[in-house]
Amino acid sequence: RVMVEEGIPTGVGAIFTDYDAALAYLRSQFSRPEHDAGIVVKASGLAAGKGVAVCSTLAEAEEALHRTMVESVFGAAGEKVLIEDCLVGEEASLLAFSDGRTVVPMLPARDYKRVGDGDQGPNTGGMGCYAPSPYLPPHVVQDVVARVLQPAVDGMRQRGMPYVGVLYAGLMLTAQGPRVLEFNCRFGDPETQVLLPLLESDLVDIFLACMAERLHELTVRWNSAHAVTLVMASGGYPAAYEKGKEIRGVEAVDSLEEVVVFQAGTRVDGDRLLTDGGRVLAVTATAPSQDRARERAYAAVERIDFEGAHYRRDIAAPTPASPPAVVAHEIGSAYAEAGVDIEA
Ligand code: GLY
Repeated sequence: RVMVEEGIPTGVGAIFTDYDAALAYLRSQFSRPEHDAGIVVKASGLAAGKGVAVCSTLAEAEEALHRTMVESVFGAAGEKVLIEDCLVGEEASLLAFSDGRTVVPMLPARDYKRVGDGDQGPNTGGMGCYAPSPYLPPHVVQDVVARVLQPAVDGMRQRGMPYVGVLYAGLMLTAQGPRVLEFNCRFGDPETQVLLPLLESDLVDIFLACMAERLHELTVRWNSAHAVTLVMASGGYPAAYEKGKEIRGVEAVDSLEEVVVFQAGTRVDGDRLLTDGGRVLAVTATAPSQDRARERAYAAVERIDFEGAHYRRDIAAPTPASPPAVVAHEIGSAYAEAGVDIEA
């Protein structure tokens, strides 16, 4: 509602708490002659990143709606649903710090939400990520700040709810321009695993400046390296999976230069490290180029293993349609104008 009122570009959609009304809307949307890209059915509440169904046929969409509103597979999170046009394009995440007034964008990142290579299979909480994303060059970062992040922060302040903290805009870069898929009032996972290793400034200084509403006085600096993170998930994830598998190789990889292993779904049992969740580890590598960071990250995950482990093989891989990778020594001056400060 705030996006519509503030003119923030997003997908056309409607919100329902009544199943019959939602079903009627769904059917009317699929009967539109210009409708081709599909429909997205979203549980409005928290569903661990799994409450979104991207449906290309009416039958799939009806099933998703039934599961969400009638079978209540997401519990109370599915009592309200958002039915939206599917947005097609390259996905991008632009996170920003906000003190309620000033917005400072971070480096743009690219998250991979589908479980399988080539964006196949169901959605997950995120299977890998890299930054900076060449799909969001500096002038587009500037445009997204002006048309999305700043109006959102201004709109919340004007409604008496100033937003202080990290605001995450999940974007689809459509042929018609960037459109908001979602906002998160937090860092992203796995975006954080590529952004924080590139942050040169002290995060505490930034948070203190946000709290004191003096973010405009601070220069948030990033280094000019590239970061790639790969998520290692449990066998079966994002559907049912087993826990308690022994993980080997983490210490050896953690001691490598320019590699850090973030543990998410793990637990310690005596001197053993065990899996304890769907997304188990995120292995991040940094390097002066995206290609080198990707090679380092894959070399690192190959040294870690646990029964059933799986990860995507195409994270940060260039595709025929990719724009040229951002060149580390060129990004400093280019991003400066967009408000992102790079230290070479
Ligand atoms: N990477 C998606 C999220 O954090 O919501």
